[in-house]
Amino acid sequence: MTGDGSRNKLHEGKAKIVWDAGDGTYVVEFKDDATAFDGKKRGRIRDKGRCNNLISAALFELLEREGVPTHYVRTLSDREMVVVPLEIVMVEVVVRNVAAGSLAKRLGLEEGVPVAPPVLELYYKSDALGDPMINRYHVRALGLASDEEMDRIEALALRVNDVLSRAMADCDLRLIDFKLEFGRARDGRILLGDEISPDTCRFWDAATNEKLDKDRFRRDLGGVEDAYEQVLRRVTAAAPTWRAARPAVSGPAQARVYITLKKTVLDPQGAAVENALKALGYGEVSGVRVGKVIILDLAEASPERVEEMSRRLLANPVIEDFTFEIVRGTGARSHSVPV
Ligand code: TMP
Repeated sequence: MTGDGSRNKLHEGKAKIVWDAGDGTYVVEFKDDATAFDGKKRGRIRDKGRCNNLISAALFELLEREGVPTHYVRTLSDREMVVVPLEIVMVEVVVRNVAAGSLAKRLGLEEGVPVAPPVLELYYKSDALGDPMINRYHVRALGLASDEEMDRIEALALRVNDVLSRAMADCDLRLIDFKLEFGRARDGRILLGDEISPDTCRFWDAATNEKLDKDRFRRDLGGVEDAYEQVLRRVTAAAPTWRAARPAVSGPAQARVYITLKKTVLDPQGAAVENALKALGYGEVSGVRVGKVIILDLAEASPERVEEMSRRLLANPVIEDFTFEIVRGTGARSHSVPV
């Protein structure tokens, strides 16, 4: 029990404390404590807890609007958020757009070299073992998650990358890489958990490539507090535009799901159309992919459910990519989520 006796401390980690609020929700408290290299390096970053809480809240809100279900419920205070209880999947998912950190080291790449398409990596969440890198076979052998759960987790992680990369560009930041954790809600749904902050992401200034994340602490670069404040200021400034630009769609709506073969899959129809266009003199055409559109009339439009329908039935995720938009009324409100 805490001092006020009203909630139970469930877990204290390196950067956060999780409390049972006693009403079916948990409260996450963000600390100023910082560790690196499996806890071997320790320190405190003044106001990190506040920055990480408020940055995470803004980014979780944005992701929810974009159809990524998260554990975030609401902000309780500068350092605390209310979340949905999750059984954490013990797999950390890292997505990388630019070589940095352990990827640069492991593959001998210079930091700053773009990696495309984005690289997704899995790590076994185990402090005792130092979070070793694993793959889908290890996940299966260790029974960490089902194949279906991992398909969902990987699709969501790549979607988070699309949404956050765009959002960070609004903040004049480059999203270099980041780490996500997912969990199972009581109803079995997979939700994005943990935090999204300079502790768990690499953010570089878009103009100068200055590091504005925990690497300043890991590598003793100085100016750590300023970097976290800087990211919070930029995210806070951009958040109202995200809310205005991407309103949640409620009431009757139409979903349009666009399905194409994955870029890595041969598309003979697309190739034939491309050749025919070029033969007709349209030399500017550098690629054609032929797909289909599925139009769904819905009483209530939840991006998450449209994504689920697309993934489970409409598209074949093994060979096809899909994107969708949800249009309400005259189509003035459009919601597009690349997957
Ligand atoms: P890495 O390059 O050190 O493997 O880190 C990849 C990303 O994951 C980077 O954005 C920082 C984040 N990360 C964590 O959130 N927790 C960790 O323990 C580590 C090692 C990295």
